[in-house]
Amino acid sequence: MSNSPEITQLVDRFGRTVDYLRISITDRCDFRCVYCMSEEMTFLPRAQILTLEEINYIARAFAELGVKKIRITGGEPLVRRGVLDLLENIGKIESLNELVLSTNGSKLVEMAEALKNTGVKRINISLDTLDAAKFKQITRTGVLATVLKGIVAAKQAGFERIKINAVILKNRNHLEVCDLVQFAIDNAIDISFIEEMPLGVINSHDRAEVYYSSDSIKSDLKQKFQLNSIEEQTGGPSVYFKVAGTVTRVGFISPHSANFCSTCNRVRLTVEGRLLLCLGNEHSVDLKKVIRASPGNMEKLKQTIIEAMNIKPEKHEFDLKEQPVILRHMSATGG
Ligand code: GTP
Ligand code: 5AD
Ligand code: SF4
Repeated sequence: MSNSPEITQLVDRFGRTVDYLRISITDRCDFRCVYCMSEEMTFLPRAQILTLEEINYIARAFAELGVKKIRITGGEPLVRRGVLDLLENIGKIESLNELVLSTNGSKLVEMAEALKNTGVKRINISLDTLDAAKFKQITRTGVLATVLKGIVAAKQAGFERIKINAVILKNRNHLEVCDLVQFAIDNAIDISFIEEMPLGVINSHDRAEVYYSSDSIKSDLKQKFQLNSIEEQTGGPSVYFKVAGTVTRVGFISPHSANFCSTCNRVRLTVEGRLLLCLGNEHSVDLKKVIRASPGNMEKLKQTIIEAMNIKPEKHEFDLKEQPVILRHMSATGG
């Protein structure tokens, strides 16, 4: 991987440059987080999802068009067979600056070291609570101790940066925000708090009732920590602060309270090979169809991607009081 500056060919109608691709490599997951999935989920049949070769091919097309950062997500990406080979292959793409991964942490004890060896530099691990019973309630099938051991394994493997992602829900885990930051400080890692988004129909709670804003979290944290704002950007939607006297950065991802769409630099590849131009809209182009109809025709694929930029929507409009307009779950989309 190199840091060579190249002109990107991906610019949308609003002048935004797209240099970040998020790829969901599986809709399957060993957890059933209440904000992400309903209890009973039907997963896609294998023929409908991209093969690992197809994912690699599409990643290359994006890199040739100027994409610098690729994040592998899911579902839980580490449950897909062959994921390490895929990461190694994408990691070899010369022009990429960053290959990163989001995981629920359940497989890190076994896989952290091999993962580090593929060339992945940074990982984001979901962790919404430090209370084992609550962890079970929120993830339905997850075991807190396994994820905590996974975080230790990731630290030992020596990733450049590890970040925890916590979705905060009122009366479920909002009283834990200080403990979660303290956990990040104790482990010398970063943490981002995420406002829940209405993606997919879920049956565990009313999303409007559990809304807890980033500003509320910030004022809770200020009772205990001094947060200094920093310029640093990772190319993601988080706005970061540094906890004074520590190495820990605290990020806030605020799709409701601080819309970040005007600086959006990313698109997503769904597990079915749909290029999704915005998380909060359905505008998409079927790349699987293109590569299966014209195998090996890289120019055609690249032209399709360039043209897709013309339908990237200006912004997401989430309404927590309505039934979700977006019926797909985060797991198929790339969380
Ligand atoms: P860093 O590169 O570490 O800053 O990570 P990131 O924020 O790019 O990626 P991460 O996987 O940590 O993203 C965290 C969450 O931010 C996602 O799971 C989504 O909930 C949210 N998010 C990311 N991109 C978008 C976006 O384009 N629109 C909306 N509405 N939410 C997004
Ligand atoms: N709203 C906000 N974040 C979500 N995630 C999954 N579903 C949602 C949702 N509906 C988060 C997970 C994980 C990240 C990849 O996506 O908690 O941290
Ligand atoms: Fe799995 Fe992540 Fe969805 Fe939880 S949020 S069910 S860990 S994909």
